[in-house]
Amino acid sequence: MSGGDGIGRLDWISRPAGPLHGTLAVPGDKSVSHRALMLAALAEGDSRIHGFLEGEDTRATAAVLAQLGVSIEAPAPGERLVRGVGLHGLRGSERPLDCGNAGTGMRLLTGLLAGQAFDSTLVGDESLSRRPMRRVTEPLVRMGARIDTQDGLPPLHVHGGQRLHGIRYELPVASAQVKSALLLAGLYAEGETEILEPHPTRDYTERMLAAFGWPIEFAPGRARLSGGHALRASEVQVPADFSSAAFFLVAASVVPGSDLRLRAVGLNPRRTGLLQALRLMGADIEVLDERHSGGEPVADLRVRYAPLHGIELPQALVPDMIDEFPALFVAAAAAHGRTAIRGAAELRVKESDRIATMAAGLRTLGIRVEEAPDGAAITGGTLGQGTVDAHGDHRVAMSFAIAGLVARGGVRIEDCRNVATSFPGFMELANGCGFALKAI
Ligand code: S3P
Repeated sequence: MSGGDGIGRLDWISRPAGPLHGTLAVPGDKSVSHRALMLAALAEGDSRIHGFLEGEDTRATAAVLAQLGVSIEAPAPGERLVRGVGLHGLRGSERPLDCGNAGTGMRLLTGLLAGQAFDSTLVGDESLSRRPMRRVTEPLVRMGARIDTQDGLPPLHVHGGQRLHGIRYELPVASAQVKSALLLAGLYAEGETEILEPHPTRDYTERMLAAFGWPIEFAPGRARLSGGHALRASEVQVPADFSSAAFFLVAASVVPGSDLRLRAVGLNPRRTGLLQALRLMGADIEVLDERHSGGEPVADLRVRYAPLHGIELPQALVPDMIDEFPALFVAAAAAHGRTAIRGAAELRVKESDRIATMAAGLRTLGIRVEEAPDGAAITGGTLGQGTVDAHGDHRVAMSFAIAGLVARGGVRIEDCRNVATSFPGFMELANGCGFALKAI
């Protein structure tokens, strides 16, 4: 531990090493783990979750649900037994519900809590406290909810005892979190809740509601359900998180001689935009042994080094790779030529402003980056050594760990403590396949 603000701060040094080799299993999917906990909590009966992400974000959601009276056991790492309390079985808590760093946790819980008989207060860490919440509270208020914000930001006070009614809502921005919050509120609403999206987003909430026995109609870009049914306990198999696999896809693509295999990675088409983008850049990634697990497509991915070249990123891919841009920035920096990214303004309101944090760090390492309000143009080149600031953003920290593999002299990355929110064990897994990464 070190660094300016003392407590809780963690810096890393990532240095060039040899080629990356091995077979890796990355942890469970964050989006699926959050949703599995929430639906299991509201179901009737006991649900088991396998492959649960032992990350700080998903554990924060488990702790919130426990605070609301749900018994959640952890018989083994990656396993949860959730004793569902039924749709109306949660108990209010006097104490604030702490969502930690998790935007998904806070936004989905806001929808879920809007239909309860009791009041709740949702709080988060410094980063989450800066993230916009009106995108969920505004449509929820249209459904009859009462929610106080701090000028659109957390803490959120959700008033209980409100009668919710279904609405038809066209999302102004493609957001699975907003869609999911409204669907969860819709479970408690009178009548029909229908959500239309400008671009289809991940549909885990819809698929999982169906698996828990709630009648729902959905297709890419729309979802519709009515209130007044029940959720039945279920078994959930969580796939490995494509967003965690993404760092290794980029790392092996840029380090000469590398050959990595990633096991049983979730390949929901709403998540795999980076795979297509890297292939457009010349990456050598094979999809092997395609199968289904827990209702989701999964496959092994084999990635070998290949020289990358810059591309104009097709804007249609943006929502399908919204969490993968920090990794793409590094691929673009290591590629030959210019990569242009547009239509990605949402990156400015993630765990950090990811356009600004990635641009600043890459410039420090000697890469030319021109920022736009909704993207950036990155001219690939030779990365040099330097100190970059991850701003407490897990994906920015891991992306610069990859940059360090190809930066002459290595990269010092400040403020990496939040990597455990989504990827506990990243450093061990990375070093096990050939990274030279250490905490200082
Ligand atoms: C998520 C949706 C996305 C994504 C986030 C997880 C989800 O956020 O960035 O990491 O689980 O629904 P938005 O809904 O804000 O796009």
